[in-house]
Amino acid sequence: MKTIFSGIQPSGTLTLGNYLGAMQHFIPLQNENNCYYCIVDEHAVTVPQDRLKLRHNIRSLAALYIASGIDPDKATLFIQSEVPAHTQLGWMMQCISYIGELERMTQFKDKADGKEAVSSSLLTYPPLMAADILLYKTDIVPVGDDQKQHLELTRNLAQRFNNKYNDIFTVPEISIPKSGARIMSLQDPNKKMSKSDDNEKGYISMLDEPKKIIKKIKSAVTDSEGIVKFDKENKPGVSNLITILSACTGQSVATIESAYEGKGYGDFKQDVADAVLNVLEPIQKRYNELIDSDKLDDILDQGADKASYEANKMLRKAKKAMGLGRVPKKK
Ligand code: TYM
Repeated sequence: MKTIFSGIQPSGTLTLGNYLGAMQHFIPLQNENNCYYCIVDEHAVTVPQDRLKLRHNIRSLAALYIASGIDPDKATLFIQSEVPAHTQLGWMMQCISYIGELERMTQFKDKADGKEAVSSSLLTYPPLMAADILLYKTDIVPVGDDQKQHLELTRNLAQRFNNKYNDIFTVPEISIPKSGARIMSLQDPNKKMSKSDDNEKGYISMLDEPKKIIKKIKSAVTDSEGIVKFDKENKPGVSNLITILSACTGQSVATIESAYEGKGYGDFKQDVADAVLNVLEPIQKRYNELIDSDKLDDILDQGADKASYEANKMLRKAKKAMGLGRVPKKK
């Protein structure tokens, strides 16, 4: 049995990219592994958030995890800020991180780009992410392609700590899906689909109404060739839609290409929209049943208790290794 950890930021309603690149892959893992799935709200506040919206998004993300198939009897679902060990180990991880390596993170560079006031937490976000993962002796971290660099840093920090202090951390492996690891914007297919995109037509939110989803897919940018062929470089829009169809249905790219030979983009886009609706509609139905239920609070309470218990054990080891606090009294 392996230990799995992954987190999603409650910084807006999740996109189809979050679902296909990450969440979808969390579900089968819970059957044979010890899984921790986290709502990383402390990561979300590295950029300004409206407090009421943030509160709503945290609860909404918890409901989406369950609606997508996370079973609280099998996996531990919890909110990062309800387990203080994360920021405590996060501080220790900051103490062994170098500013140079943090400044090299592409996500930091993208988010800081052109801004006058950049919070220091945007820079120190990856050590907190490392702490999230290392607290649970995580073997595997399932994420989308954009988290690769953060995972590399996590591995480096784990090794650095182990060499410098004591060999306590498991060095985690990254797991990136073969299909859907990087879903692109529907309006600018050279850019990642993101919930913080200013252009709402660029992303599909997991809670968008069906009509809106169909409209967004039908107006997705393609090209004038009229051929359904996977060619990321020359046909990024069509390739992105093929990836979405493949990730939603499990069909291979080759099967999709041959199914649309001689057909135009009209039929193709309709089928992509149907495939997305097939995935999202049942999730939306379960979401609506859950969002205001007390059951959701019980699940999150239990998740925070279980995660705290495990995380505190590792935190004690890390403090001891670094020499923080006092020698515990013998009982
Ligand atoms: P976040 O909240 O940006 O995204 C959550 C997950 O969704 C994946 N993802 C995508 N996959 C495919 N196509 C896309 N367009 C797309 N956009 C996002 C991300 O790769 C991610 O797996 N730093 C993390 C959150 C985090 C975390 C952790 C993850 C904090 N601590 C510990 C794993 C382990 C983040 O910002 O993800």
